[in-house]
Amino acid sequence: METIGIYSFFILCFTSHSTVQSIGLEDEFTWSRINYTWPEDTFLESELGSEETAGSNFSFNISTTVKTSGETLTTVFVDYQYANNIPVGLHVWGNKLFVTVPRRKPGVPSTLNYVPLHSTIKHNVPLIPYPNWNINLYPDTSGNGDNLVSIYRIAIDTCDRMWFVDTGIYDIVGSYTHVKQLELILINLQNDEIIHRVTVPNDVIISGTVFTSLTIDVSNQSCNKAFAYFPDLVAYKLIVYSLEANRFWRVKHNYFYLESTAGDVSINGYNFQWTDGVFSVELSEEKPDGFKDMYFHALAGTHMFNVSTMILQNETLATRNYHGNDLTIVGDKGPKTHTSMADIHPSSGIMFLNFVNQNAVGCWNSQKSLDTISIVHKDDTKMIYPADVKVSGDRVYVFTNQMPILTIDNLDNDDVNFRVWSNTVEDAVKDTNCAL
Ligand SMILES: *[C@@H]1O[C@H](CO)[C@@H](O)[C@H](O)[C@H]1NC(C)=O
Ligand SMILES: *[C@@H]1O[C@H](CO)[C@@H](O)[C@H](O)[C@H]1NC(C)=O
Ligand SMILES: *[C@@H]1O[C@H](CO)[C@@H](O)[C@H](O)[C@H]1NC(C)=O
Ligand SMILES: *[C@@H]1O[C@H](CO)[C@@H](O)[C@H](O)[C@H]1NC(C)=O
Ligand SMILES: *[C@@H]1O[C@H](CO)[C@@H](O)[C@H](O)[C@H]1NC(C)=O
Ligand SMILES: *[C@@H]1O[C@H](CO)[C@@H](O)[C@H](O)[C@H]1NC(C)=O
Repeated sequence: METIGIYSFFILCFTSHSTVQSIGLEDEFTWSRINYTWPEDTFLESELGSEETAGSNFSFNISTTVKTSGETLTTVFVDYQYANNIPVGLHVWGNKLFVTVPRRKPGVPSTLNYVPLHSTIKHNVPLIPYPNWNINLYPDTSGNGDNLVSIYRIAIDTCDRMWFVDTGIYDIVGSYTHVKQLELILINLQNDEIIHRVTVPNDVIISGTVFTSLTIDVSNQSCNKAFAYFPDLVAYKLIVYSLEANRFWRVKHNYFYLESTAGDVSINGYNFQWTDGVFSVELSEEKPDGFKDMYFHALAGTHMFNVSTMILQNETLATRNYHGNDLTIVGDKGPKTHTSMADIHPSSGIMFLNFVNQNAVGCWNSQKSLDTISIVHKDDTKMIYPADVKVSGDRVYVFTNQMPILTIDNLDNDDVNFRVWSNTVEDAVKDTNCAL
C-alpha cells in the first residue's frame, strides 16, 4: 500500500499542470451529535434537570398516535441519550439521505432515519424517523411487535425497494436484550410502505449472528426474481435469500473466515485485534451468462475473493459440501487494506473500499488487476473509521463515524464526529489507477 500511495502521488504531481487535481471526496454533511425532529405534538413531560443534563439524557414522554386497532392516541416514552447515538449506515434515494443508528446502547430514539439530501443546513441536521416515528419507537407499545429495534446498514435495489435486517437486539453492548429474531424487511420507497417481512430461520444462523450488511441482486427481467446476500461475520458464512421462493440457505467455505495473520488493526493510535469474517459483498454487472460475479472479503483480512451468483442462486450448488473451484481468490489487496464496507459502480466496474486501517477510502477498477488499487481520499483527522460506502446513480457516498474510538472514549459533543462524504464516481477516481 505504501508504494501504491507514493505511485499515485507521483502521477498526481506529474499531471497536475494539465489536469484538475483530484479532490477525492468532500464532506457534505457533518454532525457533532445526532438529534431528531421530534413529533409536532411532543410535550417535554420531564426534561431532566439543567440544560446540560437534559442534553445528554433527554428522556421524555411524547404523545402520538399509535396504530393498534384503529387510531389510538397513546402517550409513549422516548429515551434520548445523545452520546449513545452513533450512526453506522447510509444510502441515498431521490431526495432522501438515509442514516441508520443501531440501538447498540439505550437512548436511541429512532433506528431508521433520513435527512433531505438537498438540505441547506449541512451541520447537525436533525434526523427524521423513517418511514415514521411510531414504527421506530422502543419499547414497542403498539401491541403487535412490529417496531424496528436495531438496524445497521440498508440496501436499495433497482425496483425502488429498501431492504434491511432488523437485528432484533437492543443494547448489544450492555443488557443484550433479545427483542425478536433477525428479520428481513422491505419497504416500497415510492409510498413508504412495508411490503415484505420475513424472519431469518434459526437453521441458517448461530445465536451470535448479527447481519450488519446485505447486498441485493435483482434480475433485469423481474423484480420478484431477487436475491439478498448476507455476510455472517460471526459464523463466517454467507446466507442467501430468494424473494421468489421465500427461502434462505447458507453457503459454507473457508474463504468466509478471518485471516489469522491479518487480525491486527490500528485506528488513530488505538490497537485492536479484530475477528470479523466476511463483512460485505459486491456485485459486478450482469455477465453474458445472465449471472454476476460476487466479490467478498473479511474485515480481518486483506484478500479479495470471487464467486459467480450462478452458484449462490442455486440452493443445491450453493450448499454442496465440496465447492471445488466455485470460489476463487482474486488476490491480496496489500498491507493495511482491511475493508469494512465496499460497493461497486456497476457500469464502470469501479469498486470503492473503506480502508479502516488507513483512515481512507480506496478504489479498485475491477476490470484491471488487483494491484492497481488506489487511494481515493485519506484524512487522518477527519476520516476515522469509514463505516459505510454506497454508490447511488453516478455518485459515491461514504459515512465516517469514529466508532472504534467512541466505543472506548466518550463522544466529545463539540467535535465533528460524523460525516457524509461524496462526489461523482468519475471525479472521485480522477488521477487514480481506477480511472477509466
Ligand atoms: C443518563 O442515563 C444513564 C442510563 O440511564 C445513566 O447511567 C447516566 O448517569 C445518565 N446521565 C445523566 C447525565 O443523567
Ligand atoms: C435536541 O433537540 C432539542 C430540540 O428539538 C433540544 O431541546 C435538545 O437540547 C437537543 N439535544 C441535543 C443533545 O442536541
Ligand atoms: C412517561 O409516562 C409514564 C406513564 O405515565 C410515566 O410512568 C413515566 O414516568 C413518564 N416518563 C417521563 C420521563 O416523564
Ligand atoms: C437482461 O440480461 C440479459 C442477459 O445478460 C440480456 O440479454 C438482456 O438484454 C437484458 N434485458 C434487459 C431488458 O436489459
Ligand atoms: C441447480 O444445479 C443443479 C446441478 O447442476 C441442476 O441439476 C439444477 O437444475 C439447478 N437448479 C436450478 C433451479 O437451476
Ligand atoms: C471472478 O470469477 C469468474 C469465474 O466465476 C472469473 O471469470 C473472473 O475472471 C473472476 N474475476 C476476477 C477479477 O478475478
